[in-house]
Amino acid sequence: MKAGMPLSVPGDKSMTHRALILAGLAPGRSRLEGLLTAFDAQSTAQVLRGLSIGISPLWVEGGVDVDGSSGLQPPRQHLDCGNSGTAARLLLGVLAGYGFPATLTGDKSLSRRPMCRVTDPLSEMGAVIRVAPHDGLPVTIQGGALKPIRHVMRVSSAQVKSALLLAGLVGGVAVSVREPTGKSRDHTERLLRAFGFSITESDGWVHFEPTGCLEPFEFSVPGDPSSAAFLVGAALLGRRSMLTIRGVGVNPTRIGFLTVLNRMGAQITIEHQEDRLGEPVGDLHIPPAELTATEVTAPEIPGLIDEIPILAVLAARASGTTVFREVGELRVKESDRLGLLAQNLRGLGVEATAEHNTLAVTGTDKPLRGRITTDGDHRIAMAFGVLGRSPSSDVVIDDMACVGVSYPGFWGQLGSLDLR
Ligand code: S3P
Repeated sequence: MKAGMPLSVPGDKSMTHRALILAGLAPGRSRLEGLLTAFDAQSTAQVLRGLSIGISPLWVEGGVDVDGSSGLQPPRQHLDCGNSGTAARLLLGVLAGYGFPATLTGDKSLSRRPMCRVTDPLSEMGAVIRVAPHDGLPVTIQGGALKPIRHVMRVSSAQVKSALLLAGLVGGVAVSVREPTGKSRDHTERLLRAFGFSITESDGWVHFEPTGCLEPFEFSVPGDPSSAAFLVGAALLGRRSMLTIRGVGVNPTRIGFLTVLNRMGAQITIEHQEDRLGEPVGDLHIPPAELTATEVTAPEIPGLIDEIPILAVLAARASGTTVFREVGELRVKESDRLGLLAQNLRGLGVEATAEHNTLAVTGTDKPLRGRITTDGDHRIAMAFGVLGRSPSSDVVIDDMACVGVSYPGFWGQLGSLDLR
């Protein structure tokens, strides 16, 4: 079997947000390597700078210094979270612990995403919050002394869970939060544990006690498995050679897509594992494979929520009908991903339905041709971009630049793969 040059992918987006935030809260100078430098990461860095945290420029090469010694100070202007839901929700959690007012804003897509899932429990903890009438940004928050909380989330969401844990951290209060179906990514828990905070888990609950102490730290952010997923998808569709992707985060709460793909007939393996501040990191090996349909169940969804676009596109080339259960949450991502996936797949000639909370995609080997509406959503663009590079497909993406939100070098890397 041919083997291409090993690739690596940009730093993990979720960990980049969290590393910047925790470094900003630590009293001193932290050093972060391998950070994502894409627009979403720049948004979090820019908001923290607006709160008087010193952060050196986020360049692709080289590390980033974060100086949190001044502590968070009242902002002089509105804090723009750009396109990033993680920035907005996690930073609301942080601001809940500070007694000054701050207003978070975002772009058109972010402004329409629901915020009350975070602002309701933060209000219950004691923050005073004004949310725009449509339950989106702008949100103005004035925090202060917080109360402990026990909160059952309506949907399993790492953003909500992390916002509350961060509020517990800055407010120095206990937080217990329960996820209804399946476990969402646990990067915040792992990082807090690394600083000696008590984080225990039982029966879907995560319990946080403010026992630890946040110190300046060094961290090297692993490659983003959600970005790697697009290259994995390209390699599987291309069916020509073995692909290796080095240094990818393989936290079990992030790699549900690998489990699903292996169930569909792939034989992806993880090698050379190491540990960075409690986060497992490894190399992915992806041999070519033919895929068959599967059912992706509700408890699996939180562990692959960002990979549904690429999985749906792969399902369009698998034999049989793949069904994704309970994916209603996709309607409130960067776009209505559920609607757009079905609409775009149908536009190319694939049988696909999005009814209630279920997405069903029937695979075909017919040539696929058409124009993709992304609504500015990076993951829709990348998923259909992968399909477009596969044999007998001719796909035009209406907005290729939107990948800059998470993966600026995506088109170059995709183009370098031997796929046809
Ligand atoms: C993220 C959590 C997920 C994911 C998003 C990043 C995070 O959102 O879709 O891209 O870093 O916490 P939800 O937690 O709202 O599902």
